[in-house]
Amino acid sequence: MAIKAENNVFSLETAHTLYQMKVDMFGVLNHLWYGAKTDCCMDYLLDYPDLGFSGNIYEAGDNRSYSLNTRPLEYGAEGVGDFRVPAISVTHEDGSTALDLRFQSYEIKRGKYKIQGLPAVYAKEDQAETLEIILKDTATETLVTLLYGVISEADVITRSVIVTNQGKTPVILNKVHSFAMDIPYGDWEWIHFHGRHVMERQAERVPLIHGIQESSSTRGTSSHQQNPTALLCEKGCTETTGFCMGMALMYSGSFQTQVQLDELEQVRMTMGIHADNFAWTLKEGESFYAPEVILSCSDEGMGELSRRFHHIIRNHVCRGQYQLSSRPVLINNWEATYFDFNEEKIEKIARQAAELGIDMMVLDDGWFGKRDSDTSGLGDWFVNEEKLRGGLNTLVEKINHMGMKFGLWFEPEMVSEDSELYRTHPDWAIRIPGRNPSRSRYQLVLDMANPEVTEYLYETISKVLRENHIEYVKWDMNRSICDWYTKTLPDSRQKEMPHRYVLGLYELLERLTGEFPHILFEGCSGGGGRFDAGMLYYCPQIWCSDDTDAHERTFIQYGTSFFYPISAVGSHVSAVPNHQTGRSTSIETRGTVAMAGSFGYELDLNILSEEEKQEVAKQIKTYKEYQPLIHNGFYYRLSNPHKENMAVWEFVSQDGKEVLVQGVVFRAKPNTLRIRIRLAGLEEGMYEVLGTGEVYTGKALMTGGILLPKVSGDDVSFEFYLKKK
Ligand code: DGJ
Repeated sequence: MAIKAENNVFSLETAHTLYQMKVDMFGVLNHLWYGAKTDCCMDYLLDYPDLGFSGNIYEAGDNRSYSLNTRPLEYGAEGVGDFRVPAISVTHEDGSTALDLRFQSYEIKRGKYKIQGLPAVYAKEDQAETLEIILKDTATETLVTLLYGVISEADVITRSVIVTNQGKTPVILNKVHSFAMDIPYGDWEWIHFHGRHVMERQAERVPLIHGIQESSSTRGTSSHQQNPTALLCEKGCTETTGFCMGMALMYSGSFQTQVQLDELEQVRMTMGIHADNFAWTLKEGESFYAPEVILSCSDEGMGELSRRFHHIIRNHVCRGQYQLSSRPVLINNWEATYFDFNEEKIEKIARQAAELGIDMMVLDDGWFGKRDSDTSGLGDWFVNEEKLRGGLNTLVEKINHMGMKFGLWFEPEMVSEDSELYRTHPDWAIRIPGRNPSRSRYQLVLDMANPEVTEYLYETISKVLRENHIEYVKWDMNRSICDWYTKTLPDSRQKEMPHRYVLGLYELLERLTGEFPHILFEGCSGGGGRFDAGMLYYCPQIWCSDDTDAHERTFIQYGTSFFYPISAVGSHVSAVPNHQTGRSTSIETRGTVAMAGSFGYELDLNILSEEEKQEVAKQIKTYKEYQPLIHNGFYYRLSNPHKENMAVWEFVSQDGKEVLVQGVVFRAKPNTLRIRIRLAGLEEGMYEVLGTGEVYTGKALMTGGILLPKVSGDDVSFEFYLKKK
């Protein structure tokens, strides 16, 4: 049994970790421990300080040392004397906002719970257990059910929350975070991931300050600017040593991660749907389901933590035919043609791609409606026969005839004002009555909370997929959302809309991915603006960034690798000078960097020289050979590109016998020794370097390291493959 409930203590055990809580004498649920296994009840660490201006619950009588404001709580609520940032905040019918949550009951179940309408980690019945703890407000019939999923072999705990109103009068939820935890001890830093369009997920490690720090999005998507993932690390924690814990919210809308260091140096972390522009009315008997948070921790550093997240997301989040199988090497026409193409141009690109060994041609934006620029056409998901004379079917057949699969781009959630769809249904675009809506990339957003809209999208998209032999869909989304308003809700409940938008999106994705299981769905939002575990439940890969510059990509992919598996990272070789930065890097460097993901090309291969074409053919062959190692192997970050003059990463096969080291040295330096890099995750025994015949022991490679080839020039890549003898 992974879950034990004894003497009011709940212990959740995974292969290497322990999560512990305790119901105290007042029915308050205390957080005791999350970390390495201790074989012990950790309540001896609890302290009860008499702290000025920390009030006491009434039942404590004259005992001034029992305060909700100092307890390490499992799920802190607002209004009853805990002045730290709450996980939950409600308004009752009488206008009051207090919520005094006390233990009511618990249940342990086999298998992993599911969440109504939301993506969640899944596991076989014998791989997981569920703990449900019901807390109840002392004065009302408001119930909070804390859900815990324990996936032992993966060292993962999942958390979610259900709020139920069993009273007669409505309750308004103002904030319901999915995860909260108080940590009374330790000296911590945290890592969050910030960025912008064309520069996503930059890892930033900062000390905690007294007060609240936040990483969040109010854009209706998980966003380029912050990511719904965070790590809490003990000071000094490295890639290979020290304790850290990580949390990833499985949600694609506005989110909020809060970290608070309080007056007693205790840490409170919470994570969930952003509380701004959120409110949810629960009438009698209704429940609200919060999205899931995936948690893991490691006392062997951040690398091990990342590998645990890679494992759970690849094996228990991603789904469908392509979940674990090889991904096709694709060619995408976006950076080759932008909107300026016809069937001849596409066929020419495809023919060259097929000759070089590429598996799939993806036709990007511009194939539909009146779409010759980004000012028109979105919403009209029928082929533009002026561009594709002969229609889509003829083009797909020709591509298939060349021996390639065919993939197609959609941006389902958007509408252009200059479109048939907008002229017919102007009321389907999000806008507040009496105000002009804000445009972004000239486009408006469809109201995904309106079932008529999602039904239309289902009908039109599924028709295209049914009538043409399409084996891949790129699901794009190119703006942040504001002007929130839906005609499907009364005015008093408009703050439900951002979450209802996400529910509508998930429902549509569930329907389409369920009906077309053979199609590989790749998520996208102006590159990686919606790169989260929620989208990965529907799309096993996501276009990592619109920045295809190999140098910049090493930083983006470094940050992405903290939580997301390598197979999830859509990554392409593009033309030089690079369209985003103007930088030129060699075809070898571009290939090496793009291989650390789900690989493809995004340029007109016809413009390459013969030598470059040969190099492309070689890269495709190499990638196909290494793909099982890259996607199924263990991933190690061997350098921090923000601090060192290089980005180096490594894949080790699960049996420890194969090793692929890849990297880029950024700036050439004259008169220096060759760079030495320590490998990781090897076994004892001898490893041979392919090509050079050099043989070293695993121990030597991990402690002494290996010398990189002497490089000349900037942004020069290297790669070596080792095999155990
Ligand atoms: C943004 C995506 O990230 C690009 O790859 C491309 O699909 C464009 N949208 C098309 O408009």
